[in-house]
Amino acid sequence: MTTAAQTSREALQQTVNLAEIEALGRAALDQNALEYYVSGANDEVTLRENRDGFARLKLRPRMLVDVSNVDTRTTLLGLPVDMPIAVAPSAFHGLAHTDAELGTARGAAALGTVMTLSTFSNTPIEAVAQAALSRPGKGGFWFQLYLYRQREISAEVVHRAEAAGARALVLTVDAPFLGRREPNERNRFTLPPHLGVPNAGTRQELAGVETATGSQLVNYFQGLVDKTVTWNDLAWLRGVTSLPIVLKGILTAEDAELAAQHGCHVWVSNHGGRQLDTAISAIEALPEVVDAVAGRTEVYLDGGVNRGTDVLKALAFGAQGVFLGRAALWGLAAGGEAGVAHTLNLLNEELRLAMALCGKVTVAELGRDLIRR
Ligand SMILES: Cc1cc2nc3c(=O)[nH]c(=O)nc-3n(C[C@H](O)[C@H](O)[C@H](O)COP(=O)(O)O)c2cc1C
Repeated sequence: MTTAAQTSREALQQTVNLAEIEALGRAALDQNALEYYVSGANDEVTLRENRDGFARLKLRPRMLVDVSNVDTRTTLLGLPVDMPIAVAPSAFHGLAHTDAELGTARGAAALGTVMTLSTFSNTPIEAVAQAALSRPGKGGFWFQLYLYRQREISAEVVHRAEAAGARALVLTVDAPFLGRREPNERNRFTLPPHLGVPNAGTRQELAGVETATGSQLVNYFQGLVDKTVTWNDLAWLRGVTSLPIVLKGILTAEDAELAAQHGCHVWVSNHGGRQLDTAISAIEALPEVVDAVAGRTEVYLDGGVNRGTDVLKALAFGAQGVFLGRAALWGLAAGGEAGVAHTLNLLNEELRLAMALCGKVTVAELGRDLIRR
């Protein structure tokens, strides 16, 4: 007799692209979780543009190159990874699967890449670290941070992440306030009571937050996160950690220049279209950011990455790596660790094929000559 678990494992293994994994992931979620994962801000123009921006870019492939051995290995902040594809931070993996962030961390580690853990995870930093570091010499984890009004809470999570083995701190800079994801407001998104927020919620429990006026997350976040943060506050962060700092949410050459001046790496992102609607798509913002930092820092990108050719285009514009937000969540919802691993593997195989068909065998060879401007 086949069990439901076997059937869903088989369905997962039969998927041939990320859209099919997304369909399985969506089917596994209730309305509260699904709306939280899919939503973008307001009219979701930026959410759509992230995908459309990639599709508009056309490739200029080269022929008659020996492509019998394509190698997708690279480094992220000096850490060797098997692919230039990693996992972006997203809150509440417990909504997707009972293994929550442990499933994501194991899936990323199995494929030899990095997971970025959100401050708002349902699993404590230390347990996720253990799962992420379960393959010695592979993978690793970065920790994402919001700066709180109560700086001692931020300092405490930074110290915990550093002690647990995080290789970078990712400070999210595009969310002094949360964007209005209207379905979550309308239907009053709530975290189910069995899920905690063990990194951030020690002193202010999400469970106690008022939901009568809209999304519980928004009300929680507004009370916790410091809206006065400026470039001057980076000195405070430097004072509490020796880890590299990555600024996530940069979209302009001006801010990229300031990031480089402050010794920070740059993560091009519009938060998956969840913050400022009609903001520029991630892939369209990437070239000016790469030009502005001019090799002083690493540059990463997230937003709309769903195909190997998307990864290739971001690398061709100068990104060191790309990160998956929703795609990793769909993998997790569709099959836990195996779903995340399958997602990463499929995308990397698509990248490998796209590189071969472009006449490129290493990621270092991917340059702007590949893209028609
Ligand atoms: C459900 C969800 C939760 C997210 N939570 C966080 C978070 O806690 N911190 C953060 O910096 N970004 C968060 N993000 C943004 C992602 O890190 C990333 O920027 C975005 O999802 C990339 O776009 P993509 O979903 O098209 O790949 C979240 C995104 C989603 C979809």
